[in-house]
Amino acid sequence: MKTKYILLTLLIMNSMYITSSPAMPSWLKQAVFYQIYPPSFQDSNGDGIGDIRGIISRLDYIRSLGANTIWLNPLFSSEFKDGGYDVTDFYSVDKRYGTNSDLVELVNEAHKRGIRVCLDLVAGHTSDKNPWFIQSQQADANLRYSDYYIWPAFIPDDISEWAAGKYIPSDAPRGNYYIKNFYACQPALNYGYANPDPNHPWEQPMDAPGPQAVRREMKNIIAFWMDKGVDGFRVDMAMSLVKNDPDKKGTMQLWHDMKGWFAERYPEGVLIAEWFNPTEAIAGGGFHIDFIAHAEKDNYTSLFFNREGGEFEPLVCYFDREGKGELRTFMEMYSRHYEAVKGKGYASLPTSNHDFQRPNCYTRNTLPQLKVAMTFFLTMPGAPFIYYGDEIGMKFLTGLPDVEGSRGEDGKNRAGTRTPMQWDGSPNAGFSTADTSRLYIAQDPDPQRPTVAAQENDPDSMLNYVRQLLKMRSGSAALGNDGDWKLLSDVNRPYPLVYLRSAGDERYCIVLNPSDKRVTAEFPSLESAGANCRVTTAAPAKYSRGKKTDKVTAPPVSATIFKME
Ligand code: GLC
Ligand code: CA
Repeated sequence: MKTKYILLTLLIMNSMYITSSPAMPSWLKQAVFYQIYPPSFQDSNGDGIGDIRGIISRLDYIRSLGANTIWLNPLFSSEFKDGGYDVTDFYSVDKRYGTNSDLVELVNEAHKRGIRVCLDLVAGHTSDKNPWFIQSQQADANLRYSDYYIWPAFIPDDISEWAAGKYIPSDAPRGNYYIKNFYACQPALNYGYANPDPNHPWEQPMDAPGPQAVRREMKNIIAFWMDKGVDGFRVDMAMSLVKNDPDKKGTMQLWHDMKGWFAERYPEGVLIAEWFNPTEAIAGGGFHIDFIAHAEKDNYTSLFFNREGGEFEPLVCYFDREGKGELRTFMEMYSRHYEAVKGKGYASLPTSNHDFQRPNCYTRNTLPQLKVAMTFFLTMPGAPFIYYGDEIGMKFLTGLPDVEGSRGEDGKNRAGTRTPMQWDGSPNAGFSTADTSRLYIAQDPDPQRPTVAAQENDPDSMLNYVRQLLKMRSGSAALGNDGDWKLLSDVNRPYPLVYLRSAGDERYCIVLNPSDKRVTAEFPSLESAGANCRVTTAAPAKYSRGKKTDKVTAPPVSATIFKME
């Protein structure tokens, strides 16, 4: 009876996701990503805004970390009402960052150093100043770009307030409303509707000519940059393309088709989703990687910021010295995705990104605390993603004004996580020679702010800790992207967090205690001949082996990595 039930569940689960080819780019199992927010990394011409030549000048630094793949936020021509996510021309680099040739040079220089380069594909929408949208506004609906966008005649009265908020009134001859994705200046591209309503003629099916033309355009954009040597894309809001698609079946189908085309043409290319649901994105949509991060309750908010309000004011979370957090929410969600995508792709846990706070925020602000968090990020499975500056513990700055749409649709402070990189002790921390008042975003005013230069030769610095962890990771199949993962500690006794990484006979046991109390965990014996401490952030945890159970005792705010013999 029970077996029958399990079999049935498996069958149902299987049919929910279109099985996709498990082929992965060969380099992905060793990939360690470094995310660069282009206007904030390195300014080469003194205008206060980072640029491509600046990034080229820092490639050796990126390599020195142990990272081998870069993801760049959008660099394309833009109105910059949403930090470059409002694209006016997908086929050209915005002049503030340089030229298309500069980008090709960056790719070549990166490749020389064994670094791959991924761009950001804003697949879901454009700027309202994009020539496609301008043409689409015309009364004549038979022009080349007419059906690239969605033009409702009215707002149906049976839809949710959230859905109605996507209808933007328009005085264009074409229609009374257009559908937006994020800001009103970001009209949604038309990939069609999963369940078109015949009473709403603007809701075209996914296979209608307009939606099909948009797909072809996206393939053109992908091919245009891939053929210039780029190694892949992170796809912005990948989960949002098909409208009226509550179970995401249409959107998964769309990506599954796109991925089939992509993998055939670029077998070594990578597609990374911004979806925040790895099971849907990878098992369903065929993406290689998706993130578990800041979105929704069921991502990793319970670990880092259960945030509230525009400044991400922290509520109780797991990685806090108060030690009042819980693990169940995260572990149940993570285990589910981990199992669903195993062997197909990676559910990655980024250190942070351009949309939410850095690990260094509020009361999580000391070196030991940040090292404990970093140990988590760099010893979990899936490809690691280090957001620029997190490797030196740069701080999330509160209360910053809006810069180019950084306030977000719901008033979130995103500028606080996009402040310019801190390189050294020179003016503007070596980011730019511009007058300080002209910097893209103001920097951390603290005279003690962390810099690469100050940490370079300090063996205990965050920077060198990151290097140490990545070095260890690259030399170990167990700790690497594909190594197995298993929770050892009990979610009902959340501190310390103990998990096992393994590959064949190689096994590592990781013990994390973010709390300021000495804590103990007991779990079924690993039956090892010895537990050797390889890395520790404080005094090492104590490992006692027993016949039936093993026991670890972790000092306050500590991380220990044991190699099991
Ligand atoms: C994604 C980007 C974010 C942007 C939004 C709209 O979530 O990460 O920065 O504002 O999409 O394009
Ligand atoms: Ca510049």
